[in-house]
Amino acid sequence: MAKHPTTVFVCQSCGHQARKFFGVCPDCGAPGTAVEEQFRPTPQAGGIFGGFAGLASRSEAVAFPDIESQDDARTSSGIEELDRVLGGGIVAGSLVLIGGSPGIGKSTIVIQMADSLSQNGMRVLYVSGEESERQIKMRGERLGLSAEKLLLLPETNLQSILAVIEKVRPDLVIVDSIQTVFSERIESAPGSVSQVRDVAGQLMVFAKQTATPVFLTGHVTKEGSIAGPKTLEHIVDTVLYFEGDRHHNHRIIRATKNRFGAANEIGVFEMTNSGLVPVGNPSELFLQERPEGASGSVVTVCMEGTRPMLVEVQALVSGVKSASGRRMAQGFDYNRTSLLIAVLEKRLGFQLAGDDIFVNVAGGLEIDEPAADLGVIAAIASSFRNLQIDPAIAVFGEVGLTGEVRGVLQAQARAREAQTLGFKKLILPESNKKGLEKLLGIRVVGVRTLEQAMDELF
Ligand code: TYD
Ligand code: MG
Repeated sequence: MAKHPTTVFVCQSCGHQARKFFGVCPDCGAPGTAVEEQFRPTPQAGGIFGGFAGLASRSEAVAFPDIESQDDARTSSGIEELDRVLGGGIVAGSLVLIGGSPGIGKSTIVIQMADSLSQNGMRVLYVSGEESERQIKMRGERLGLSAEKLLLLPETNLQSILAVIEKVRPDLVIVDSIQTVFSERIESAPGSVSQVRDVAGQLMVFAKQTATPVFLTGHVTKEGSIAGPKTLEHIVDTVLYFEGDRHHNHRIIRATKNRFGAANEIGVFEMTNSGLVPVGNPSELFLQERPEGASGSVVTVCMEGTRPMLVEVQALVSGVKSASGRRMAQGFDYNRTSLLIAVLEKRLGFQLAGDDIFVNVAGGLEIDEPAADLGVIAAIASSFRNLQIDPAIAVFGEVGLTGEVRGVLQAQARAREAQTLGFKKLILPESNKKGLEKLLGIRVVGVRTLEQAMDELF
């Protein structure tokens, strides 16, 4: 039976395929994402490295104890914050995707990693489809890299890349970026779903069969997903996303998926003239510009993965009553903010109707856990009453609709962080207080209701 390529329409957002054109993707609902591509029935494994069979080539079952343990096979990337998000270092044979918007620092971090690895004697091959050798060299010089063993390859043809890999046998491969690389066996344009999937698939086979770690970088579309398909995220072992924006110097790398470690772990960096510098103590970074003696500001403790972080929540209540009070929240969920404002009105009798209320998490951070509720409420209350909250106070706790303060996870870690940074008083849910009474140098106050919290704050 001859297998001629057939035309299919592929959703560029989720990878859904259909024979007929569709205006709105029936799978993920994205509009206008259908692109005509050449479909080929599952490509035969093999071809790369002559006789490279697919991953599922082993047809015998293996006894569990006979499988080699991988745990010691981690290599440090030489960048502590990166090791942390990777789950403790680079795992042999892993395929890692680093995503982020253009200009956020993907190339910078991979080249810094490549430099430190090659200084430790590893052969690193850096494949760039976006920049010429000169451009890479310029960036390298700016970063002060020595990288004597670093091998550069400006190339976008996957088959040529694999040929070079076979020749130089690198210990680690970086492909910057996956969207620029194309595979000859697929006819659609680089960056399309079929291309990205095929390229990633072939690199995955290479990584697994040779136990060589492969790092890919990938652009993120306006909607925030990696351009090309979501399917890419399913193929790779680890997905790291760059967060942060152009207006701030800090960059956060978050593991949204990790087959070798905890997901949601973050690494914090600062973008400087000489590249990305790891920030060992992010709380300090996020608190360094706190205003003094101002109302409407309070510090809360949130968890990012396993790491507690102190952040400042700010609120501004205009005090000018108008027909329709505006509400705005930056860095915190809008609906949750409205809910908390309603709780303040109903349970504490605050007259907030008609006020413009703005809530902001300082430093451009995004908080998405209810543990920050008490912080948001405290900041709004402070601005409304125009009373300053003692800067040595930190708060956290979830707030319920009846005005009760509910316990949160990992209270220990949060309390310790506040203690470490020299806070003198911590207001937290009563149910979280157990075992924390004796923290040195910090008074831990448990509260059950918002009224109690207000008494402690003001
Ligand atoms: P880059 O890593 O090229 O971004 P990406 O690969 O994600 O598109 O980073 C480019 C940005 O980082 C650019 O705006 C300049 C800035 N930058 C610095 O501030 N300091 C540096 O040392 C480097 C190399 C880049
Ligand atoms: Mg780049």
